[in-house]
Amino acid sequence: MTDSSNVIDPSKPSIARVYDYLLGGKDYYPVDQEIGDHFKNNLPGSVVIATSNRQVLVRAVGELARSGLRQFIDLGSGLPTADNVHQVAQRHGPDAKVAYIDNDPIVLAHGRALLEADEQSVVIQADVRDPKTIREHPDLTRLIDFDEPVAVIFSAILHHLNDDEDPADIVRFWSDQIPSGSAVFISHFRSGHNAETEAVEAKLQSTFGRGRWRTDEEIAALFGDLEILDPGIVAVPQWRPDPIERPTAVRELTVWEQLIVAGLARKP
Ligand SMILES: C[S@@+](CC[C@H](N)C(=O)[O-])C[C@H]1O[C@@H](n2cnc3c(N)ncnc32)[C@H](O)[C@@H]1O
Repeated sequence: MTDSSNVIDPSKPSIARVYDYLLGGKDYYPVDQEIGDHFKNNLPGSVVIATSNRQVLVRAVGELARSGLRQFIDLGSGLPTADNVHQVAQRHGPDAKVAYIDNDPIVLAHGRALLEADEQSVVIQADVRDPKTIREHPDLTRLIDFDEPVAVIFSAILHHLNDDEDPADIVRFWSDQIPSGSAVFISHFRSGHNAETEAVEAKLQSTFGRGRWRTDEEIAALFGDLEILDPGIVAVPQWRPDPIERPTAVRELTVWEQLIVAGLARKP
């Protein structure tokens, strides 16, 4: 299965470009801005959700690299932005290797430009719903040694899969591929059980045909049998906050900050 066209179509909105717009990037078209503005107007916390998601990803990759992980597979990686996974990982472990996977051709184009001189990173255009093809991709098998621990990252990607696409099965596929000591990181939209999140979910469905805001129980189930590490699955500002930002661990979060959660698990 692939719906990974090689053509960048500026007339149709793209998840990667809308997200870039919300993050304050510059790689979007008017059609993406229109959707991004819809989110901002109807879910005023959209920018906070996007930026706090990037921040937790940076913290998680930093922790993993400091703990000795040297291989990362970033599924639904998005457009290059301020602090990318390979930059964070290589800051803590210069020999760290990163495979970026995304089905949007704009990610491939920008990723290749960014990674031209980096032999420890690749960007592969592929569909996360087809994990077997990704696993067998020659660029992945050349870079990643599946006999050594691997961190598999699902950052703000699984909520772009509908239930009938069985995101838990995709996580299970990768958990089965990686050896003991490996890690799985997931961040995911959390259902607010309110009119605002339901309206945005409906907008995602009508625009992209996908988008699921899941409950804490549903998100926990995505980890399957993996051992979820402290502090569990929590709102992203509360997931191992940076010492300088530590007050977010104790202060009451805004309603927006509670709409995206993260968790990290180890394969025993
Ligand atoms: C919200 S962005 C998250 C980007 C990045 N992981 C982060 O957390 O900052 C979601 C990304 O997933 C990609 N994506 C959505 N569906 C996908 C699929 N079926 N296969 C591969 N990538 C997909 C989009 O193109 C987009 O770049």
